Amino acid sequence: MKDPVGQFRSKIEGKSLKVAVVGLGYVGLPLAVEYASRGFTTLGIDLDKRKTESVVLGKNYIDDVDDGELAADVRSGKLTAESNYDSIGSCDAVFICVPTPFTPNKEPDISFILSSAKEISKRLQRGQLIVLRSTTFPNTTEGYVLPILEESGLKAGKDFSVAFSPERIDPGNKKFKTKNIPTVVGGIDETSAELAALVVGQSVSEVVKVSSPRVAEMEKLLENIFRSVNIALVNELAQLCDRMGGINIWEVVDAAATKPFGFMPFYPGPGIGGHCILIDPYYLEWLAKAYDFQTNFISLAAEVNESMPFYVRNMIQRELSFKPISFKKARILILGVAFKKDVDDTRHSPALKVMELLLQDGAENISYNDPHVPTAVVGGRTFDSVKLSPRVLKSADCVVITTDHSSYDYESIVRNSRCVIDARNATRNVKDGREKIVLLGDGK
Ligand SMILES: NC(=O)c1ccc[n+]([C@@H]2O[C@H](COP(=O)([O-])OP(=O)(O)OC[C@H]3O[C@@H](n4cnc5c(N)ncnc54)[C@H](O)[C@@H]3O)[C@@H](O)[C@H]2O)c1
Repeated sequence: MKDPVGQFRSKIEGKSLKVAVVGLGYVGLPLAVEYASRGFTTLGIDLDKRKTESVVLGKNYIDDVDDGELAADVRSGKLTAESNYDSIGSCDAVFICVPTPFTPNKEPDISFILSSAKEISKRLQRGQLIVLRSTTFPNTTEGYVLPILEESGLKAGKDFSVAFSPERIDPGNKKFKTKNIPTVVGGIDETSAELAALVVGQSVSEVVKVSSPRVAEMEKLLENIFRSVNIALVNELAQLCDRMGGINIWEVVDAAATKPFGFMPFYPGPGIGGHCILIDPYYLEWLAKAYDFQTNFISLAAEVNESMPFYVRNMIQRELSFKPISFKKARILILGVAFKKDVDDTRHSPALKVMELLLQDGAENISYNDPHVPTAVVGGRTFDSVKLSPRVLKSADCVVITTDHSSYDYESIVRNSRCVIDARNATRNVKDGREKIVLLGDGK
């Protein structure tokens, strides 16, 4: 390659740089829209035809993406989508944003990355930049993706460039979106790092270059393990407060958060979920075993966080034991089944785990409401979100707040319910009817 950085730079200046985003989910679609909106011709690739067809029609399906922006990008011809890789050879920069789940035994499943790398490899062109964006364990880029790309006959570092740049998007976050989140980049060599920094810099506010893809891969895992460990710590303390009585963990955290340095608030809840914080720590735990190393913080945090849905199940059973109705017959209404507030993502949602545990214990009258999730499958059964009304709330023996969506009217929920189990402190500002609230970690 002759002056690849100069070539990319002039293509960027002339807005002739073409970008491909593989995987149009929670990460890929916002990224593709960001590039298209900044004037770069962007091709989205997803094996799920419903997603590509939706994009082609200018229809958005991700909450964080602005409907009008996506439609305008499609109308202007800047954004297209296909369910095959045939056109990828015409793109200068390719971002891989496919899922990285774990197996039933909680080991990394990078099969989506590998299969997408194989498809890219078959069509790889000289001068292309391939950036892995999916969260994964250190050495995935260099040890797994790079060799597959070289099956093309082209040589990494000489004929094409490779980098890892982890995604930091926080779905539902109103303040931080793709464009204003500083983003880390690690290339396999200086040219790869430069190219990736140049291209990534077109979609985000700040690029932080690190010395290698491995550092970038580990950095992303540190971010998520940091959250998992700290959430586990408050979850453990919440249980201790409940056991001791007289100390409310939420008040404790709020008080500690007034310290202007050295403390960052994390809050307890019914457990962690989603595609990141629950899964990613296991990627490192798995890798560490190959080095005869036990990642004790990761294991302990997982143990505490994964016990929380069981803890909430026990809270529900305890409350119902005070009522003149059997657990089996009690009407239990779950509020919020998305894994966190204001999103529609139910992957590994702790609320669904709570429902599953209640079903396993024989509860016959469970229902749920979630303004973002119209249907949910739990224990092989499909549930439809019930319409929330004073009548529905009044008829429930126990209302459980598992996800604190902003659109809920918590005053009304408490006013119309007979008993509210609040696993998120969503009712913190409710004045009347507090005697009906059972709050996780309030020490009562
Ligand atoms: N969701 C988040 O908040 C978030 C935040 C930061 C990082 N991440 C990471 O980003 C990655 C993607 O996560 P996501 O939440 O966007 O997942 P997602 O499931 O929402 O989207 C992934 C998309 O990839 C598609 N896909 C799967 N295999 C493919 C293939 N071989 N070729 C083309 N398309 C394929 C799927 O159909 C899906 O639409 C994961 O590694 C995740 O850990 C996610």
